[in-house]
Amino acid sequence: MLSDLQEIEWLKKEKNAIILAHNYQTGDIQEIADFVGDSLELCIKASEIDGSDIVVFCGVDFMAETAAILNPDKKILIPDTQAKCPMACMLNAKDVKKFKKMYPDTAAVLYVNTLAEAKAEAEILCTSSNAVKVVESIPQEKILFGPDRNLAWYVSKKVNKEIIPMPAQGYCYVHKLFDLGDLHFLRSKYHDAEILVHPECDPEVQNFADNVLSTGGMMRHVARSPKETFIIGTEVDMVTRLKRENPDKTFIPALSGAICENMKLYTVKNVRNCLLNEKFEVKVDDNTAEKAKVAIKRMIEVSK
Ligand code: 13P
Ligand code: SF4
Repeated sequence: MLSDLQEIEWLKKEKNAIILAHNYQTGDIQEIADFVGDSLELCIKASEIDGSDIVVFCGVDFMAETAAILNPDKKILIPDTQAKCPMACMLNAKDVKKFKKMYPDTAAVLYVNTLAEAKAEAEILCTSSNAVKVVESIPQEKILFGPDRNLAWYVSKKVNKEIIPMPAQGYCYVHKLFDLGDLHFLRSKYHDAEILVHPECDPEVQNFADNVLSTGGMMRHVARSPKETFIIGTEVDMVTRLKRENPDKTFIPALSGAICENMKLYTVKNVRNCLLNEKFEVKVDDNTAEKAKVAIKRMIEVSK
């Protein structure tokens, strides 16, 4: 009898399928994936998929929706339909339209962590690794930016434009957990360590860190840094990814309880079932997908 892992390998070949996984997936899912990356890298990868008929997306549903929008001729599957990003649910299409009415002469720059219906109302999308570049790339001086208030704050420090958070208090429940007191303690314990945090963390946490980076930015930074020890202020399985790629360096989670429960709904077993039964397929209606694709493609163009 084949093990789940052997079956996944067999099913991938049999069905001409690939597995994409976000950096926050557990180590066993990272191991079976054909590609692991941050949300921008996954978006670009999704835009370049050819030769595969099925993509199993091990990330939250907005990531899989983006892949579905970019690949209408492929079957995009997720192993669990409850893998939703609560922050993405903080902004719907109606809200974006309302803000646009309240603030004419603005451009709506939306984080990829949004519902497809909200993406359809955006001028352009961004991720945490290209947000500054995206905002600088457009002519408008006033930007509606959402749904993450902390990423909006981060961008506002880097650009000479007015950034209006939309909604006023959008946040990620995982990155809200990081605490300045914990970081002070870790700094005193590991004098030589570099503190890297995600821009979804609160402003005081970002101010205290040595560097504020997307998950992909952390990978690149660690690879070229002469430092040996890093304190990581983002979802805890980012440490798993960093350790896998940098076995000679030391990574300490800034908070071992920083777990994105939504990302953790995937297991080797349900990835196997997903491939075997070709469930659950992610679909975006044609009208929404057509509009959202324009904003996604603009972002990919700017990121090249
Ligand atoms: P990255 O774009 O840095 O991978 O972040 C995605 C995310 O959901 C962070 O919580
Ligand atoms: Fe959403 Fe936060 Fe989870 Fe990222 S870590 S997917 S922003 S809930």
